[in-house]
Amino acid sequence: MCGIIGLVGSSDKFPLKPGIMVYRGLLRLEYRGYDSAGVGSVTSKGVQILKGKGSIRELEKKLCLSCIDGAIVIGHTRWATHGAPSDTNAHPHTDCNNKIAVVHNGIIQNYQELRDILIGKGHIFRSETDTEVVPHLIEEIYRRLGDFYESFKRAISMLKGSYAIVVITSYEPDKLFFAKKDSPLIIGLGDGFNLVASDIPAILEYTRYVITLRDNWIGYVSSNKILIEDLADSRVVEWKKLVRTVEWSIEDAVKGGYPHFMMKEIHEQPRALKETLYGVQRDPAIVKAVELLARADNVYITGAGTSYHACYYYSILSSILAKRLVYSFIASEYSVYASTADKPDVLIVVSQSGETMDALKALRAFKEKGVSIIAVSNVVDSAIPRESDLAVYTRAGPEIGVAATKTFTTQTLVLSWLSIALGQGTGALTKSEAEYYRGWLKKSAEIVAKTISWNEALAMELADWMRKKRSVYYLSRGIGVPIAMEGALKLKEIAYIHAEAYPAGESKHGPIALVEEDFPVIFIVPEHRELEKALLGNIQEMKARGASIIGVAAESTSLSNYFDYWFKIPSSHWILTSISHILPQQLLAYYTSVKRGFNPDRPRNLAKTVTVE
Ligand code: M6R
Repeated sequence: MCGIIGLVGSSDKFPLKPGIMVYRGLLRLEYRGYDSAGVGSVTSKGVQILKGKGSIRELEKKLCLSCIDGAIVIGHTRWATHGAPSDTNAHPHTDCNNKIAVVHNGIIQNYQELRDILIGKGHIFRSETDTEVVPHLIEEIYRRLGDFYESFKRAISMLKGSYAIVVITSYEPDKLFFAKKDSPLIIGLGDGFNLVASDIPAILEYTRYVITLRDNWIGYVSSNKILIEDLADSRVVEWKKLVRTVEWSIEDAVKGGYPHFMMKEIHEQPRALKETLYGVQRDPAIVKAVELLARADNVYITGAGTSYHACYYYSILSSILAKRLVYSFIASEYSVYASTADKPDVLIVVSQSGETMDALKALRAFKEKGVSIIAVSNVVDSAIPRESDLAVYTRAGPEIGVAATKTFTTQTLVLSWLSIALGQGTGALTKSEAEYYRGWLKKSAEIVAKTISWNEALAMELADWMRKKRSVYYLSRGIGVPIAMEGALKLKEIAYIHAEAYPAGESKHGPIALVEEDFPVIFIVPEHRELEKALLGNIQEMKARGASIIGVAAESTSLSNYFDYWFKIPSSHWILTSISHILPQQLLAYYTSVKRGFNPDRPRNLAKTVTVE
């Protein structure tokens, strides 16, 4: 995910200096990415670019992004996908002659192929990004056609993948060119100026009139003209009917209309899963990881908090799908495990931020023993992937809420994919069995979207009852246990209610002593006949002591008669348990926190990234 803004107008009409307008817009897009940023404008000598690695505020101090001159300016804040965060990989990217500058959000799938052709024609590339092919491709076509807009259209029609692209050029210094497919882009209409941006917050300070662009739309805006065409059928789009007035305040808009980042991130999960799936399907690191894991003597997996729950989930999946025992441990306990680790072993380190000190320490301790390290992270080029032999990335986009939500579901998606690949690689699964499981993972976004819409109202209602409780149990068996643990962590972390998770079979060995009338017990019921059968006895023993039973179970469950409340999950497959069954628990924790008067985005005593031991 990246953020884009572009601005064009007559010098006397801007409410502020264009450089300042773009800089302020970028700050509002920072939630989309923050590892590098840049701005560009058209001058008499070509395009002028200021860009670099670091946050927008750091770069403002270093380069004064807001000082950029000109009546046509573009800006970009990056969340690295192709190429680590660096000064050269930051956007805008330019052509060989510095006449065309491009900002892009999305992924160009055929960039390598286009890059090879363009290099063959003498183009010099400066970055490792997929985006850089765009200015060179336009330049190449423009050499022949001499018509910029036509060259831009032809270049865009050669791209495969997803993109929101904005281009400025000294060949046509009064127009902002844009194209959109699968990545968001809007036009903002000002008085004597117009804007293009990834999202409403970037432009809301300057206008409330917007047009939301659709896929395959392409065109340009100048100070007083807007042209939109549909690339699919070359039709000119009647845009006047599409202008709408935004009702949000600036404050609302930063969270995209959601009251908290956590809520926004819960709702972003279908898209985060889709993007992660797209990445993992094509990631050569998965093949290399399977090679390493297949020949390892022992496999360990570690992380902290939510990431540890993803590790535990992987260890269960690995024994089911790859018939491979994996030791999962909490990162801060690394010394127990590192002491026996040896060279032919592999350690998988899972960390959303890639910077958690406990996980980093574990990594280093194992590395010292000669163990190969595989990182699973959401942040490209963060410390953990950097120090690992191999990195696989989730593509959840920046997570701002302290409580991990979309990064947990995307982590377990990646780890599920890996265990299927390992199962197939070691012969534990046949090709068709592996395809069958992968088929279910491909449905994850759809299942999650349905699960949210089916359960939000119940979560809100139940939160009213839950907010008065002092203690809650989260129980499950097998693959459901780490999901119960993650649910309990969510409630504890943001609603400050004591919540404990354990395998349901343990109840009678102690915890049941606490159960009394109306004590909440949440049962995570994976869609698996044997586990359901085994959980029935545990539900009954809790009910017999007066507990109120909240079931998180598929619509096909045979246990619904035992539930006092039922979070209904669309029927799918147990392999999706980590993705589908966690959703109602995220929602319940969120609403309970809000009803108790807390801010779920800023839980007390916690930081998003824990860089201390
Ligand atoms: O960035 P990491 O995944 O390494 O972070 C690990 C934990 O600090 C993190 O998951 C924490 O438990 C979350 N706040 C839980 O919601």
